[in-house]
Amino acid sequence: MKIIVTGGAGFIGTHLTRRLVGHGHDVIIIDNESNSSRASVPAGARFVFGDVTKPEELEPVFSQGADAVCHLAGQVSIIRAFDNPIGDLRTNTEGTINVVRVCLAHRVPRLIYASSMTAYGDTDVVPTPESEPCRPDSYYGITKFAAERYVHATAERPDLECPLAVTSLRMFSVFGPGQAWDNPYQGVLGIFLGRIQRGEPITIFGDGEQTRDFVFIDDVIDGWLGALENTDSTAGRIINLGSGRPHSINELAAKVLAAHGIPEGEYDVRYAPTRPGEQRRVQADISLARELFGWQPKTSFEEGLLETMQWAGGTGPGEDANGLTAQAETTIGERT
Ligand SMILES: NC(=O)c1ccc[n+]([C@@H]2O[C@H](COP(=O)([O-])OP(=O)(O)OC[C@H]3O[C@@H](n4cnc5c(N)ncnc54)[C@H](O)[C@@H]3O)[C@@H](O)[C@H]2O)c1
Repeated sequence: MKIIVTGGAGFIGTHLTRRLVGHGHDVIIIDNESNSSRASVPAGARFVFGDVTKPEELEPVFSQGADAVCHLAGQVSIIRAFDNPIGDLRTNTEGTINVVRVCLAHRVPRLIYASSMTAYGDTDVVPTPESEPCRPDSYYGITKFAAERYVHATAERPDLECPLAVTSLRMFSVFGPGQAWDNPYQGVLGIFLGRIQRGEPITIFGDGEQTRDFVFIDDVIDGWLGALENTDSTAGRIINLGSGRPHSINELAAKVLAAHGIPEGEYDVRYAPTRPGEQRRVQADISLARELFGWQPKTSFEEGLLETMQWAGGTGPGEDANGLTAQAETTIGERT
């Protein structure tokens, strides 16, 4: 298949592209390099510089036709969205509308959208199924959710000349090799890893008992491939991709420190007031993905953390990971 991957130079996009190319697909990436570089584009994929907020930059690629579009381009920081809500709205919502419109204009039959668990906000039901109403609290969650609604409302329009099969994958906290860890605006695990590597204090916002659902990148990419290969069962659907297991931020900090061989209480961990848009309890109900296309995350948190640290040079492959290796071994067979 010929597949356009927007945001394909980023963390999730490069993993997805590598896998798609490996499966023999013809992949074209469109990315404005605002949070990445074309240097990270996997071999075998074509790169086109383009900004999703500028339809004229999408047109030359989409006008050549495609069998599917994986739309991942986006502004990914909850903090930045509060600082620059208009920029966030333009990239995440307007950019998605532009992608949907060029899909329609050039009769692309399939679109998969990178949605987010932040769409839920604080929900009453945890683990949270896709049927739970969304009430995003962060500006980022609002723009990701609005974009998701544009994608699905468009696909449901009765006046479409050419049908567009859409799927939204509501990803939880994705982690793994390639994730940013020198960027204070990105995921908490990467931030902790970066700070420990640089010997800087770790800051936990709030009491640290808020939970997140960390899902390993390879499992997420299995989910994207599964959705792409099962259009009949996934068209029109919104699907959670999480591990189904919660970890508190305190627990996360302790695990990352232990993995670096740092005993509890011997590192500078600071607490700061909670930030806006913080969800309290996050845990995905992942039964729908299993039911629709047999998806099941295979990587435990400890295995994923070990792989991420080996990639980053935190522990060399084969070296003693100071407790982490033992932990990883005990969790094998207990995959989520
Ligand atoms: N990482 C997660 O845990 C997570 C969870 C849920 C949803 N998502 C969504 O998945 C997608 C990919 O996230 P990621 O973690 O790989 O982040 P990332 O920042 O590594 O990737 C996003 C990519 O989009 C590009 N981009 C940004 N604005 C653009 C624009 N206007 N035009 C073209 N390209 C643009 C960036 O340069 C980057 O390469 C995002 O849409 C994000 O909202 C991520």
